[in-house]
Amino acid sequence: MEQVHGKDRWADYVASGPDTIGGKYLRQFWQPVGLSSEIANGQALPVQVMDEEFTLFRGETGTAHVVGHRCSHRSAQLSTGWVKGDTLQCMYHGWKFDGNGCCVERPGEKNTGAFPQADIPGYPVQEFLGLIYAYFGDGEPPHFPPFKKYEDIGVIENHATIFPCNWFQTMENHFDETHIAFVHTFGDSHDKLGRRYELPEMNFYETDYGMIRESKVSGGKTRKVHYVLPNIMRIMIPTFNDLMEVGGWRDTNIILVPMDDKNHRVYFTMNVHIDEKDMDAYHAMYERFNEKVKKYPPIHELTHEILAGKGHINDYLDHPHLLLLEDGLAQAGQEQIVDRSQELLGRTDIGIAAMRKVFEREMLAVASGEPTTSWSPMTVEPELGF
Ligand code: FES
Ligand SMILES: [Fe+2]
Repeated sequence: MEQVHGKDRWADYVASGPDTIGGKYLRQFWQPVGLSSEIANGQALPVQVMDEEFTLFRGETGTAHVVGHRCSHRSAQLSTGWVKGDTLQCMYHGWKFDGNGCCVERPGEKNTGAFPQADIPGYPVQEFLGLIYAYFGDGEPPHFPPFKKYEDIGVIENHATIFPCNWFQTMENHFDETHIAFVHTFGDSHDKLGRRYELPEMNFYETDYGMIRESKVSGGKTRKVHYVLPNIMRIMIPTFNDLMEVGGWRDTNIILVPMDDKNHRVYFTMNVHIDEKDMDAYHAMYERFNEKVKKYPPIHELTHEILAGKGHINDYLDHPHLLLLEDGLAQAGQEQIVDRSQELLGRTDIGIAAMRKVFEREMLAVASGEPTTSWSPMTVEPELGF
């Protein structure tokens, strides 16, 4: 395993490819590869996950599968083929693969029996609460689902946004509560929470499922945020613009999945309780919200545009995902892969220091072939805490 960026000691950690230390680490866990709603029965899509390309397809039965990107015959891209039953047929010469990647048919060949040389990679897949997860590591996958189940499921909201920067920058941001008092003031949304410019007292510690952030602003109660390591944040978040009308705080899992080293997808799975009498109003509101989201270019495009000086966030204060644009600008504004040799950490960065220590330990274990920490499933119930 090579260091990709030489002088930067974090380089191995931020890399996600299969032959990197960071990539080997992330492959020890289930990772979302798409939203269930993104792929219909009988469809195939190319997906980019941890600096590799794969094919996600949903059989006519409705079962989701993840296999390699290319055909073993002459490398056609398999997402362009046909789904037949629970197999995927290459559009070039018709070779067929099942959900495990086994080549089950080669129509132009005389001997059409099993031909293991033609098998392509296939991965375990699970679908849960609107997300499709795959396991790309060696051996048995860890417990599933990767986060604590909701005890009482109301309405599940899912969405995914591309952030045009390395995933670890967003993970650091999740340990950086101070940023809220600055980054999230463009739309004044956090004003409504009475949190403007007040820096909280913070405390971070490790648990058997990851880490906890405890924070307290003056006069307030201690709030907790849970990190289900390595890449999930479990947090109760308030409703923001355009979703205020119906429904309260969302019990939220935010999962960060590298596409490549300079882009990642931020997946949200949120649980919200809506009174039966408000259900129609809720659905109407959520539809309006989604229609409004569609009117804007995706967050990563806006982020690139604004960072290139071709616009300003003030032009987008009405964006229904203003918070994501604010975060995207802060994090991608550090560079797509930040040069940490140039940083000057201070008191506000204690969370970042604490999480880096944990990641450093895990990465050193990967590098030396030692077992990494086997995180337990999260057992505690999240409480209000933003
Ligand atoms: S390249 Fe796929 S069948 Fe020939
Ligand atoms: Fe943020």
